[in-house]
Amino acid sequence: MRSKGLAHLPLALLFASTLAAQPAEERIDALIARMTLEEKLGQLSQYVPDQPEFGPAVTGGRVGSILNGSGAASANALQRRAIEGNRHKLPLLIGHDVIHGYRTIFPIPLAIASSWDPAMAELSATIGAREARAAGIRWTFAPMVDIARDPRWGRIAEGAGEDPHLGAAMAAASVRGFQSNGLLACAKHFAAYGAAEGGRDYATTDMSERTLREVYLPPFRAAVDAGVASIMTAFNALNGVPATGNDFLLDTILRKEWRFDGFVVSDWSSTAEMVAHGVAANKRDAASRAIRAGVDMAMVDHSFSELAGVVRSGQLDEGAVDNAVRRILRAKFAAGLFADPFTDERAEARAMLTRAHRDAALRAAERSIVLLKNDRSLLPLARKAQTIAVIGPLADSRDDMLGPWAAQGKAEETVSVLDGLQAAAGKETRILHARTAESAGTADLIIAVLGESRDMSGEAASRTSLDLPAGQQQLLEALVATARPVVLVVLSGRPLSISWAAEHVPAIVQGWFLGTEGGTALARVLFGDVNPGGKLPVTVPRNVGQVPIYHSMLPSGRPASADKFTSKYIDVPVTPLYPFGHGLSYTTFEYTDLSVSARAIKRDEVVRVAATVKNSGNRAGDEVVQLYINDPVARVSRPVRELRGFRRIALAPGESKRVEFTIGPEHLRFWDGAWVVEPGEFRVWIGPGSVGGLEGKFQVE
Ligand code: NOJ
Repeated sequence: MRSKGLAHLPLALLFASTLAAQPAEERIDALIARMTLEEKLGQLSQYVPDQPEFGPAVTGGRVGSILNGSGAASANALQRRAIEGNRHKLPLLIGHDVIHGYRTIFPIPLAIASSWDPAMAELSATIGAREARAAGIRWTFAPMVDIARDPRWGRIAEGAGEDPHLGAAMAAASVRGFQSNGLLACAKHFAAYGAAEGGRDYATTDMSERTLREVYLPPFRAAVDAGVASIMTAFNALNGVPATGNDFLLDTILRKEWRFDGFVVSDWSSTAEMVAHGVAANKRDAASRAIRAGVDMAMVDHSFSELAGVVRSGQLDEGAVDNAVRRILRAKFAAGLFADPFTDERAEARAMLTRAHRDAALRAAERSIVLLKNDRSLLPLARKAQTIAVIGPLADSRDDMLGPWAAQGKAEETVSVLDGLQAAAGKETRILHARTAESAGTADLIIAVLGESRDMSGEAASRTSLDLPAGQQQLLEALVATARPVVLVVLSGRPLSISWAAEHVPAIVQGWFLGTEGGTALARVLFGDVNPGGKLPVTVPRNVGQVPIYHSMLPSGRPASADKFTSKYIDVPVTPLYPFGHGLSYTTFEYTDLSVSARAIKRDEVVRVAATVKNSGNRAGDEVVQLYINDPVARVSRPVRELRGFRRIALAPGESKRVEFTIGPEHLRFWDGAWVVEPGEFRVWIGPGSVGGLEGKFQVE
């Protein structure tokens, strides 16, 4: 077994057992030896079945992979076409964007990150993989592990938010979930796509190697360590070099340093787009640059067919093509395609949207909800004789609840907030779907469901404003003016700068887009059947002008203070509206007894830091216990705080738990041309968020 990355996974076991039955590497070598150059390049080309070029390419045996086909019958028909058209009977690798579920839709990844529970990322991937496999799909373009610190960027919805430590945990869990259930995963978009200038999708990225390595790469590294089968390049240029032709990223870091031995796919046309980037004269040039840098498969632009001329003219060694073909064929073995490329069409329907899958999606949605504000315990709502008005453009929208990239999710199979509340309210409470502030004002309490429609986030959905979309702010103000208590439920793919609401609305629930069971989950939280325990995986700015704003900023030489000449704004406070890690509960938690196992450790040793967390209220609840560090004096300036540990725990009323974290060199190091742990003092906090907490310290000698 040569694939070290896949070695510890069940998928790899499948590969290994296939190997045992038939020597895969020998078969691959024999195949490559018999293939023409055009056939090889076909294996490196991915098409969409409705592209005009697809027909002749597939009958000519020159298609290695397709994307966006769906359904077992169509997958089987495509496999038959490919195998018939191909002298070597090579099956297709069928890929799909299974991002947060296939038919049963889970919360968007940013929401799942709000659960601070990697098991939820794994669960979402597991069920997505089972359904996708039943539809003939063997490869997903997920997880997206791009760190995003600019909520103007619509794709912040698809990742785990602003933090590399949380992002790495979610990345590894997703890869495990997909690949343990027979779906090859693809960590994307390599790299630094989330740092696009101005939050403008597809724009350029410019950053230091330190920021790249400390912030943007760790989730990719975690995916590689978890055995991810493939990596997708990014659309952006990094420091002037497009990611798809970037040999520093693809060769130096990915292949040489990390020893990644899966395959690399470009993003949609990103090879050909190197012409528009201005680093290639034409498609042929672009293809040549991509394969040299380390791309094995070109998505959609069929640019790699141009490589035939490059090889024949002696400018590219055919061995480079063979290496790429070998990686693709290995992936096909790993996906079980050589054992059986077909999918049981009769089993497909019953694999979809099962009760168990819906239950799992509900559990994930419940754990993803963040209670931002709850003055005078307005929530949870009582099931008493009262009328509750539900209002807002998202109140009865099933479609929007699915969020961006919802694969085969269907609105009619999805629970809206209104559906959920009507089902959960009980006999005495009347739920009124109000259309105007005036009619809502006749109720005892108002639930406003506001935020973004699902197409306002995801790819190509950057915004220059983080405010509530048009008209919603006015509606909210009119609702507050009725003098009825208002609960605001925010659905969105990004943090919204709801500053007015934070001041004037007593209770605010961040619901993101929660998927198929979203409305049920929100209703259960609002009525207190579930005590919310999610926390923000991203900082919520007061307004868009504060961006970028994130918890692990570097200190200023002039930290904000009352003094005028310090780092702040003259129009709004410098603090965020809600900090990273923030989230409330219907109960309260107390932190006491911080302990640090050693006063001093050596650079290669570990230290254990612990605290006692007590549920000091009278309801059972979950708390996400967070550990942060700071290196106050180093040769380079270090972030004011960095998340280095977290654990979501459940506590009964009055119950206490001791929560312990182990901190080692990988948590203390920084990049300065190489990884360095410097001697000196470190500060450490354990607390409920990125602000406050119990503080301790230790020395590194
Ligand atoms: C472009 C997107 O950037 C990428 O994330 C996605 O996987 C591909 N299109 C395929 O749909």
